[in-house]
Order: sequence, then C-alpha cells, then structure tokens
Amino acid sequence: MCGIVGYVGKGNAQDFLISGLKRLEYRGYDSAGIVTLSSGGNVTLLRAEGKIVNLENKLAKNKRKDRIGIGHTRWATHGEPSESNAHPHRAGNIYLVHNGIIENYKELKETLKKHEFKSETDTEVLAALINSFYGDGKYALADAVVQALKLVKGTYGIAAVSAKNPEEIVVARSGSPLVIGVGNDVTLIASDASALVGHTKHAIYLNDGEVAVIKKDNIEIKTLNAEPVSAKVEEIETNLAAIQKGGYEHFLLKEIMEQPESLTETLRGRINKKAGTVHLGGPGLSESELRKIKHLVIVGCGTAYHAGLLAGYFIEQFTPEITVETVIASEYRYRNAYIPKDSVALIVSQSGETADTLACLREIKKQGIPTIGIVNAIGSTIAREVDGGTYVHVGPEISVASTKAFTSQAIAMVMFGLTIAQAKGVKPGVLRPYVEEIVKLPEEIRGVLNDVKEKVKSVAKQYFDYDHAIYLGRDTAYPTAMEGALKLKEISYVDANAYAFGELKHGPLALVDDRFFEMTLVPEGILYDKVISNVREVLARGGHVIVVTNAEFDLPVENIIRISSDLKIFAPILMNLVLQLFAYYMTVAKGYNVDQPRNLAKSVTVE
Ligand code: F6R
Repeated sequence: MCGIVGYVGKGNAQDFLISGLKRLEYRGYDSAGIVTLSSGGNVTLLRAEGKIVNLENKLAKNKRKDRIGIGHTRWATHGEPSESNAHPHRAGNIYLVHNGIIENYKELKETLKKHEFKSETDTEVLAALINSFYGDGKYALADAVVQALKLVKGTYGIAAVSAKNPEEIVVARSGSPLVIGVGNDVTLIASDASALVGHTKHAIYLNDGEVAVIKKDNIEIKTLNAEPVSAKVEEIETNLAAIQKGGYEHFLLKEIMEQPESLTETLRGRINKKAGTVHLGGPGLSESELRKIKHLVIVGCGTAYHAGLLAGYFIEQFTPEITVETVIASEYRYRNAYIPKDSVALIVSQSGETADTLACLREIKKQGIPTIGIVNAIGSTIAREVDGGTYVHVGPEISVASTKAFTSQAIAMVMFGLTIAQAKGVKPGVLRPYVEEIVKLPEEIRGVLNDVKEKVKSVAKQYFDYDHAIYLGRDTAYPTAMEGALKLKEISYVDANAYAFGELKHGPLALVDDRFFEMTLVPEGILYDKVISNVREVLARGGHVIVVTNAEFDLPVENIIRISSDLKIFAPILMNLVLQLFAYYMTVAKGYNVDQPRNLAKSVTVE
C-alpha cells in the first residue's frame, strides 16, 4: 500500500525519489508525487494520477538539482485517485506525505477553518493541523509535528518538509513502517527497505511513537514525549539481484520459479537430516513449554491464511494431541474468541505489516498467549512485536500476488508443528516421513516446475476467455484449491471460487455449465476413490474439467496435468505450483498487468 521516500544529501533528490518510488511500485498505487526544495526554499511540487511514468513526464519539464525532497505513491482510501488527492499535500510552507489513516480527520477538519482544503484526503487535514502549530513560527517543524500527532487518532507513517527550512525532513510513525537509510553525507527515508537497496546497507527502523529529524549528516530520534531514543543501525540484507527481474518477463514468474531456492533458505540450518528432526531457534520456547501446547491458533489474511489452513491439516496428522484453528485476521480481531490456556498463536505475514494481522497479534498478546511470527520481511512490525518467530527468508516478494511466501510459510509452520510433536514424544517413525519429504521438497519443486511449465501454459491458453472457474479439492488439497482460486481471481480477474469436493452436492454443483471450468486436484491417498467419484459427478453434468494429479487417472476429462514426483505427503504443495503457473499464464493470455493487478496493494497497512 502507499509508499514513502525521502532524500537529504549532496546529490540529486529528484533522481532518488523517482527511482525509490519505482522500487515501491509493487506495493500498489494509483497516483504519485514528489516535492523538492532548493537551498533558497524554492519549491517544485509534481503530482500525477496513474503510473509513475505520468509523473516522469511532468518531471521532464521540471528538472531540478535540489538536494532535499520527499515522494509518495498513493493507494486511494479517502477520495478518488486524482492529481489533487495525490501526495505531497501542502499547508502553508509545509509539504506532507502520509501512509495510514487519520480516523478523526473529520473532527480535526472542523477546527481548521483557516485552511482552504484542496483535496478530499485525511492527509491534507494532518498537513493543515501541523501548520496550525508551525505557521506563526511558535514551533519548530518537529515540535509542530509532535503537537499535531498528539491530537491524531489512527495510523501513520509521515514525512514532512518545510520550504522555510530546506535542510531537514521530519518523519514519524505509528502503525505504518518507516526506515531511515544511513549513508555518507546522505540520509534517505523509505516505507520499505527495498527502496534503499543499492544506496546504503545501513538502516534504522523507526518504532511506533517515534519522531526523527533527519539531516544529511545527522539523525535525531525522540519519542512523542520528547524522550531521546538511541537508534540501532541494522544491516539491510536484501541485495539488488533480489529486487530485479533477473531475465524473467515478470516478477511473478521469477518468484514462482525461484521456489527451490527460496524454500532452501527457509530450511537452512533447521533440519537434522540424519536424525530426521527439526530445530527452530527463533520461537524461543523450551521443550517443556512445547510439550504443554494443546492448541494452536494460526492467524493470517489471504494467502497467509491459506498457508495456515494447509499447515493445520498437516500438523493435525502427526500431532494428535493438539487442535489447530486457522483464522482470518480481519474477522478474528472482532470476535470475542476465547483462547484456551496452553495455546500458542502463529502470526503469519509475508510483509509483517498487515493491519488486521497486527491487530490480532496485539489482542492475543493481551490475553497472555505466546505469539510466534511466521514472517518474511525482516525487521517488520509483526516480526518485532511477536514473542518469538521463524523468518521464512524467501527474499523480497515484489509481485503483488504472493507465491513463494505461501510455500515457505506452510512448510515453516509444519516445521513448528514438528518441533511440538518431537517435544511431546511422538514416535520418530511417525515424524520421519514428513522430515524426509521436506528435505526433498526444494528439488522436487524444481523438477515439477520444469516438467509442467509448457503444459500449463498451453492449457491456460485454452481457457483464457473463461470468466468463471471452480477449484475443487479435499483434505490438504482443499486449502491448496483455495489458494489456487485466489491466485487466479486476483491477477486474471476470473471469478474463481474454491470448494471442498465433498460440498459439491450441497450447492456448488448447480454452477456447472459451459461458462465455468473446473480445476480439480486429485492427489494419491486415502480419499482418492472419493475424489474420483466427485470428478465423475462434475463430468456427468458436462463440466469442463482440468485435473491436476500425481496418481493414476483415466477419466475422459478435457485436460490432465500430471505431476511426477515421489512425494506423497506434500503433493498438494507441488500441485499449487501448477495453480500458480496457471494463474500466471491465464493473466498473460488475457493481457492483464501480472505484477500489479488492479485495485490491489502488496502490503495492506490499513484495515
Ligand atoms: C494474495 C496476497 C494477499 C496476502 C495478504 C496477506 O496473493 O498476496 O492475500 O497474502 O494480503 O499479506 P501478508 O502476508 O503480507 O500479511
């Protein structure tokens, strides 16, 4: 969701701001803008609706050599995507960019009669509020920002500059991430460290309730209550290769194809092959604490939720003594759910910034339940607020649709389940097949991706003009079907819904007609015969059936995509690769924007 960048140094601010905003494009946006200040306080404010290229077109006629500036990509919340609603917003001499939502903006606006509002945004209200303290010279910019923020309810990551003082940027955060990049005679800011990669390796992650005054050679951080903060400078782990397409046409295809490597990173140092055991240091739970666990609550949104559902099926298979409940964060945060004691909560998030997931984490912590993060983004808010955690280490996921994170989230959670089972004394003979398959999984993924890629491409082409799809699976293939349907709908805009195969006769079977195709998952296993009967039911109604299977299959369906692998337990993870590729090739065939689907943002930092 919205992106922030800022520059104060000796070089060209406009250059960094534009390149930084491009790095943040993947987060999703519908307008963009930058403001730079000359040393004499001349202001160049450029804003444009739509893609950054529109902003660049304006920039071509307004090139400056200014050394300070801030920029923003906006994903509309208050007011439509338009130039006037795009950030930076101005009030007096102040220019402000903002991520998040000011919930009490209407009440605040009532008090700001002197300001002539030009946009429909909550951000302009905040700019005017800051200016109400700053305008008459009573407060320095940072102090005016603090006064204003004390009146604000909501979430924010902000950056403000003043034309009266073109040497400093004031930033603050509460619920919306902000990273300060520390360089030599240059200081950068960004809402996401990927904008800083290649410019500096050193970063300070601002905490909620902190305000920083940033100059080219100095950073001063305080809390909103004016207590000084001694900031920790951390290393940015991402490198340039990780945020480039590396020869692929789209980030999505790159991220699908790099799953052998990304999963290898998830597993690194965490498995003892010889002993057939798993060791996770991050959760920080002792053997006796693990032994006591009776209940797991897994919390996530979208793909992270599906990964949790899938992991839950596996964990229940090998740890009979615990129950697993996987919940959608946006629902759970408002449910009056009782969490039994002896529970542990797994908080699953690629970005580590998802507002609903973060809110659940805070609620669950209030109940005294230990929280374990299954997070990708290092240093993200969720990663910092959980009691312990396991990073999935898949590297940056740039495409809006999540792929490699899903695979690693599911396996990381299964590994956590295995550590519980080990502590509870589940027989090694029960657990070993899981560990052995996990060890083989990266290479099996590589094999399947290479085997099926062309086939999936040609099948996807056959269905590219369909607008409706049903995804069907049972047991572990059911959450896999849910994830496959989500992938298809979010990037190819096909109305794809997943159902448990056993539910067909309870309603969805009525949908089968020539407008729909059915993507069916048929894994080898105990439910095989039942699934075959389900496929027959669809065929008998004239369904357009595609089967993805690792088993014998000889029914007369339209297309069969075979997975050749020895893996039995984790076959659904391999089937999901087919579904990821299918969504990708459908989208390419339909001619839509693969990496930045309409209306969506990568990191959903508002409720
Ligand atoms: C779908 C997708 C989303 C995210 C969801 C949670 O492809 O990317 O459904 O999975 O917004 O995001 P994180 O994992 O960052 O909390």
